[in-house]
Amino acid sequence: MSREQVFTLEATPLKYGRGAAAEAGWELERLGVKRAMLVSDPGVAGTGITGRVRESIEASGIEVEVWDRARVEPTADSFAEAAAFAVDGDFDGFVGVGGGSSIDTAKVSDLIATHGGEIMDYVNAPVGEGRKPPSALRPLLAIPTTCGSGAEATTVAILDIPEQHVKTGISHRYLRPDQAIVDPELTDSLPAEVVASCGLDVICHAAESYVARPYSEREAPGEPGDRPPYQGATPISDIWSAKALEYGGRYLRDAVGGDAEARGWMMLGASLAGIGFGAAGVHIPHACAYPIAGLKHDYRPPGYPSDHGFIPHGQSVIVTAPAAFRFTYEASPDRHRRAAELLAGEPLPDAGPDTLPELLLALMRDVGVPTGLEELGYGVEDVDALVEGALKQQRLLVVAPREADAEALAAILRASL
Ligand SMILES: [Fe+2]
Repeated sequence: MSREQVFTLEATPLKYGRGAAAEAGWELERLGVKRAMLVSDPGVAGTGITGRVRESIEASGIEVEVWDRARVEPTADSFAEAAAFAVDGDFDGFVGVGGGSSIDTAKVSDLIATHGGEIMDYVNAPVGEGRKPPSALRPLLAIPTTCGSGAEATTVAILDIPEQHVKTGISHRYLRPDQAIVDPELTDSLPAEVVASCGLDVICHAAESYVARPYSEREAPGEPGDRPPYQGATPISDIWSAKALEYGGRYLRDAVGGDAEARGWMMLGASLAGIGFGAAGVHIPHACAYPIAGLKHDYRPPGYPSDHGFIPHGQSVIVTAPAAFRFTYEASPDRHRRAAELLAGEPLPDAGPDTLPELLLALMRDVGVPTGLEELGYGVEDVDALVEGALKQQRLLVVAPREADAEALAAILRASL
């Protein structure tokens, strides 16, 4: 096998600051957009944010139509509904305003409007056909309203396939937004529980990518187009992931407590982590999170709309993170120690396998999220089904620093109960 010698870093151009969302129209004009589809969700629309962005766009003389039915957990059907609107509307640009699901829905609407076809044509194999978009999409502006997903910085759109009890995605560099506007003012009205869950997702993005298997341990691709979007840790992804870990440790508790400045730092941290994991990838906790979120829908998270049960993404990820990092520790003790130091904000010369897991558990307790799978409705009898679901995420698991087979995943899930 010839080892990979090349790595890449592509990042979404970022505009950050309180009030920056008012520049949405100016950014679309700069991108040459004359008629935009604005994708949002009912919750965000209800806060008035979607309407304000719409006004900013119209003030620049750009036509805009709002589609605000994005689902919290998008499915192929909900993506298809948005994509049909996108195809009919003859738009030359797209805007996603909301959490990861709204931004992901905007990515997919843009994809289908630009290149046609069905959602499943593009979904990662083996669940879908894994077709690659042949050329760049129409301009996409992403405006996140949470401090978590990093979707404004990434090349993936995640969807739930309820029939197969699995979450998967469409991933290609052309899905990456052309511009992000990160405006901390948009998080002012977020419930503490949402900030907690999103912030823990950020910390997982940062920690998983920081300890990911180095890109140079992967086999070199046959041709450049076959290089995976998740390359493994690189010297550049490390910079972004490390900074996001530092912000997470320093600001998440205060952000959950309602401190506006801390929320701003967490929002920036989400984008930094998005750039880091968008290049390096995430692995075991995210691979386990998909079946954890997909298998059962009975959990009613406090602080979220209560029309249907679901497990917030950040909670589904963080719940296995302590056990996952205890498992991966032996692959790279120095990196795990460094990740723990960044999170703790101090040198930890005596750090061992339990240090990073314990810091994460303390953080989970402090921000008030469930620390075990049982609280989320799972028992030991569900472990086999969860392992089966996690094993479908090979695109993620290959980035893990230590090989996680069925037995290892079962042990991690049991330890996370
Ligand atoms: Fe995530």
